[in-house]
Amino acid sequence: MKILVTGGAGFIGSNFIYYMLEKYPDYKIVCLDKLTYAGNLSTLKKAMENPNFKFIKGDISDRKFIYDLFEKEKFDIVINFAAESHVDRSIENPEIFLQTNVIGTQVLMDASRKTGVKRYHQVSTDEVYGDLPLDRPDLFFTEETPIHTSSPYSASKAAADLLVLAYHRTYQLPVTISRCSNNYGPYHFPEKLIPLMIIRALNNQTLPVYGDGKNIRDWLYVKDHCIAIDKIIHKGKEGEVYNIGGHNEKTNLEVVKTILKELNKPEELITFVKDRPGHDRRYAIDPTKIKNELGWEPTTTFEEGIKKTIKWYLENKQWWEEIISGEYQNYYEKMYGNR
Ligand code: NAD
Ligand code: DAU
Repeated sequence: MKILVTGGAGFIGSNFIYYMLEKYPDYKIVCLDKLTYAGNLSTLKKAMENPNFKFIKGDISDRKFIYDLFEKEKFDIVINFAAESHVDRSIENPEIFLQTNVIGTQVLMDASRKTGVKRYHQVSTDEVYGDLPLDRPDLFFTEETPIHTSSPYSASKAAADLLVLAYHRTYQLPVTISRCSNNYGPYHFPEKLIPLMIIRALNNQTLPVYGDGKNIRDWLYVKDHCIAIDKIIHKGKEGEVYNIGGHNEKTNLEVVKTILKELNKPEELITFVKDRPGHDRRYAIDPTKIKNELGWEPTTTFEEGIKKTIKWYLENKQWWEEIISGEYQNYYEKMYGNR
């Protein structure tokens, strides 16, 4: 079995590669990544030692390059993690989100059709469903919830999802889609809430909470997302969408306060800053379908997962210190300087 993992030098893709290399010692895994600001080769250092793993640098929206690669490698399964993934960046510069998230998806599916790929899996997000009101805790996103996006990022992911379903119906491309809630864990880029707050708290810096901090996210430890995708590519039904989430809703303030408590840092570090434009209030996944059809359930609670994550950031300072020492400084200043 030969699997192409795109975006594998990023957060979830790299966790997935490590999970698969360990679980399936006879599978060949090829990682294709453009190495944008979010992709980090040092993340894949240990994988590079495995003879069943190969890294290739390239852009999923480069048609000629992708066609040549697919002809040469003859992949059985393609799993598309590659994306521009940060909502705040999509508000600043939507264009690259359309190029990578929409056109890149189309190019990968065209190459999959041409070369007879047996399964194309699209890693999507719960953000395609928009948000839920805070005063209706009884409401959850199911696979039937209408698509209703808020940010250029979520709109680009939703556009890609529709294209994936269209390729199934029109060309019978054997596709599946997963829509997961917010992940956290090792190798999470420190522009996102949890790693940003861990690192800034460790450095005794202010913690910028958007708006009133009452927005709710449904947090899932990244390994549980990897397990779910493994189940979907092996046992999921073609043409189907699977929601992934573990009923783990927390307000942003709860998350930040938990991190401060674990690190024994004062709550005075919290600073409320100007809200994100179009900020989604609440995400909450109903995972009944994947539980009933594929027997998936989360294995790590938030309480365990956040402890493991903080420990990882404490033990892997070199990984994030290299990231925040470069261009990242300009990013932080631009995004938060006048907030
Ligand atoms: P990430 O930003 O950490 O990693 C994205 C990776 O894709 C990087 O390595 C980057 O170099 C690569 N990439 C970007 N553009 C590329 C291109 N044109 N060609 C090839 N590679 C390219 O993202 P992540 O958080 O790991 O998310 C992975 C996927 O999961 C995304 O599709 C995202 O929409 C989805 N997702 C993320 C979450 C989450 O909480 N992080 C939740 C649900 C779904
Ligand atoms: O739900 C899945 C999505 O989760 C994925 O599709 C996205 O790729 C991923 O980035 C994530 O999107 P969010 O916008 O929910 O994640 P982020 O970490 O950017 O923000 C989480 C919450 O924290 C959100 O309500 C905004 C808030 N926040 C974020 C940052 C970076 C702050 O209050 N302060 C911050 O500095």
